[in-house]
Amino acid sequence: MEKSNPKQDAVSLGRRKLLSLGIGTLGVAMGISYLGLFGKFMGPKSVAAATKLQGVGNVGKFPVNTPTLVSYKGAGTDEGVYVINLGSEGFIALDFHCTHLECAVNWVQATKQFICPCHGGLYDIKGTVLSGPPPKPLHRRLVKIEGDNVLIGGRLV
Ligand code: FES
Repeated sequence: MEKSNPKQDAVSLGRRKLLSLGIGTLGVAMGISYLGLFGKFMGPKSVAAATKLQGVGNVGKFPVNTPTLVSYKGAGTDEGVYVINLGSEGFIALDFHCTHLECAVNWVQATKQFICPCHGGLYDIKGTVLSGPPPKPLHRRLVKIEGDNVLIGGRLV
C-alpha cells in the first residue's frame, strides 16, 4: 500500500482546483460568446434605443405622400433619412441606404418610387421592394410626433 504524502496531496488538490476553475472559466466565456452570437442572429429589436431622437421640423413641413430627405446626426455622423407623411396612416421614416449594397436611393415623384442608381432597385413609398436586387425593404427609422414636431431616431430593423 502506498503511503500518502500530505504535502504532495495538497499540491495535487491545488492543481485540481486550478484545473476545474479554468474549465469553469472557459465554460462561462463560451456561454457569454454563445449569447453574443445568439443576440446577433436574433437581431437587435431596436438600434434606436442606443441613439437619440432628433427634431427635423414641424409636421407642416412634410407634404402628404412626398418623402422629404433630412439629415440625422444622432449617431455622430450624418445619415440620410426620408421622412414620409402618409396622411391618415401617420408618419414613417426610412433609411436612405439601399438594402442591396448601401447606395443612396432617390425619390422620384413622377413615378412615386425610390430608385437606386447603382443597380436599379425600386421601392415603393413605404420602402417595399418592387423590383431589382434589393433583398429586403428599406430600413425603418424611429419616428415620433411630439406636439407639432417630427422627431427621428436610429434604425428599427
Ligand atoms: S445598391 Fe441598390 S440596387 Fe444595388
